[in-house]
Amino acid sequence: MPTPPMILLLSGSVRSGSSNEAALRTVRAVAPDRLRVVLHEGPAELPHFNPDDDHDPLPPAVARLRAAIDEAAAVLICTPEYAGTLPGAFKNLLDWTVGGTEICDKPTAWINVAAPGRGHGAEATLRTVLGYTGARIVEPACVRIPVAPGTAGPDGVLTDVGVRERLAEVLDTLTA
Ligand SMILES: Cc1cc2nc3c(=O)[nH]c(=O)nc-3n(C[C@H](O)[C@H](O)[C@H](O)COP(=O)(O)O)c2cc1C
Repeated sequence: MPTPPMILLLSGSVRSGSSNEAALRTVRAVAPDRLRVVLHEGPAELPHFNPDDDHDPLPPAVARLRAAIDEAAAVLICTPEYAGTLPGAFKNLLDWTVGGTEICDKPTAWINVAAPGRGHGAEATLRTVLGYTGARIVEPACVRIPVAPGTAGPDGVLTDVGVRERLAEVLDTLTA
């Protein structure tokens, strides 16, 4: 039996109780058996990007990130906006992808879970940065699905049926 394609989920928030991570956990929860969905742990463990360190042997957390991207059939991002742009910790993660080729031409999309009218700066920056990394943006899978803060269940997964359905659709579109 062939190994199911792996979909890599990247959260831009390192906050416990993050709505963005809750949305990604929910994507994993609603994923069909035909996919293996992996939430990348540890953006906070990455060292600050330094071109001097961007060579073999890579810092272990960077090597793990690049290996995960390499293995992935597609990447799905969910990030908050801080001060009109991407959180520094997530920009740091993306900076570490530039020196590798793993993300080049990788089907990639994002979900904006901010309230209507919010988070556009993060989306715009994400589009710019992903352009530099060479990721292949899957436009129909880049959507806005507002998630009200604090609506995850005790397992950290969102319970709203409509939100769950829309998240499942994103996964379908990204992997179509
Ligand atoms: C320091 C700081 C700056 C923020 N700046 C913005 C902003 O510029 N635009 C926006 O829409 N939301 C902004 N927010 C709100 C966050 O994006 C929001 O709290 C989001 O839910 C955090 O995501 P998380 O729940 O996944 O951690 C900011 C929050 C913080 C703490």
